[in-house]
Amino acid sequence: MNVINEGVREIVSSLKEEGISFSDLHILITGGAGFIGSWTCDVLIEMGARVTCIDSLVSGQMSNIEHLLNNENLNFIEHDISKPIYFKEKFDIVMHMASRASPFEFDKFPIQILKANTMGIWVALGIAKEHNARFLYTSTSEVYGDPDESFIPTPETYNGNVNPIGPRSCYDESKRAGEAFVKAYELQHGLDTRIVRIFNSYGPRMRTGDIYGRVVPRFIDQALKGEPITVFGDGSQTRSFTYITDQIEGILRLTSMDAKGEVVNIGNDKETSILELAELVKRLTGSQSKITFYPLPKDDPKRRCPDISKAKRLLKWKPKVSLEEGIKKTIKWFTGAR
Ligand SMILES: NC(=O)c1ccc[n+]([C@@H]2O[C@H](COP(=O)([O-])OP(=O)(O)OC[C@H]3O[C@@H](n4cnc5c(N)ncnc54)[C@H](O)[C@@H]3O)[C@@H](O)[C@H]2O)c1
Repeated sequence: MNVINEGVREIVSSLKEEGISFSDLHILITGGAGFIGSWTCDVLIEMGARVTCIDSLVSGQMSNIEHLLNNENLNFIEHDISKPIYFKEKFDIVMHMASRASPFEFDKFPIQILKANTMGIWVALGIAKEHNARFLYTSTSEVYGDPDESFIPTPETYNGNVNPIGPRSCYDESKRAGEAFVKAYELQHGLDTRIVRIFNSYGPRMRTGDIYGRVVPRFIDQALKGEPITVFGDGSQTRSFTYITDQIEGILRLTSMDAKGEVVNIGNDKETSILELAELVKRLTGSQSKITFYPLPKDDPKRRCPDISKAKRLLKWKPKVSLEEGIKKTIKWFTGAR
């Protein structure tokens, strides 16, 4: 069995063990052809839901969902969610995931990113309001900016340290605005909303190459090609890497629960430096690549680590896949053992 099918089955059986069901629900996923969105489509369809997937394909790929195109439970619509769209058929749940997410895209497409998380979420919230549907928003650890040391690990109650006009502001400030939109619809219209703050998720289906290459797929791609592994700064900055199956399980637990108004960090609370990640990828690929160092981009956060006590308590969720195990699965997918 390939790593994706294996992962989907693991998530489904774990959710079913908890008595979680999405059977016969109609779910709208914006950004459903992306990395996280396509895994979400796979799991929900496997669990008997009907999924309408909207994607403009700006950073997602049809190849992520083409195996579902003949499935009667998937309806794919190519559309930019920052423009209005109307549906007659009722939705039970709306999941707003549409947004480019790679730091290399922030330079090239800042307006598109701002629109997806402001005008796009406004359209998605309007659909949820119209259908009285539950709403989930995929926000990000970036709303915390570069947290003060005393807020590492970072709890949901931390308000953030964000530069509103910095090079990352199109992403982190628009995600903060997106959260404000969610709260406004909850307050003014009583919408049943929840927000997940995602910390560096990785795994099969992440794109490589120029603007798409987030750190894990970039390092794996470079290591497999024998090219230099490019670390920014001295590599001492940390991130907390969450394997995709853990991420999707956390998101779907939060979606399924009676958790109106909740904001929850979903991430692995094991902090890893970028240099450690580079060395791990090098070891697990058996690569001869050199590790090379480039200047650290402006406003790059020094440390990133979630406080996940709320997810443990509320969702009975904790990450199960170690970084070494997750990187091995991702390499397996990259090398074609798909
Ligand atoms: N992967 C992570 O580590 C991570 C971390 C924090 C937050 N997130 C959030 O999770 C969501 C999914 O991220 P991902 O990693 O799967 O990225 P991705 O780029 O693979 O997926 C995003 C999808 O949204 C689509 N999209 C973008 N703008 C759109 C628009 N205006 N209309 C319709 N579709 C549009 C893209 O084509 C793509 O398919 C994003 O909201 C992202 O901000 C991801």
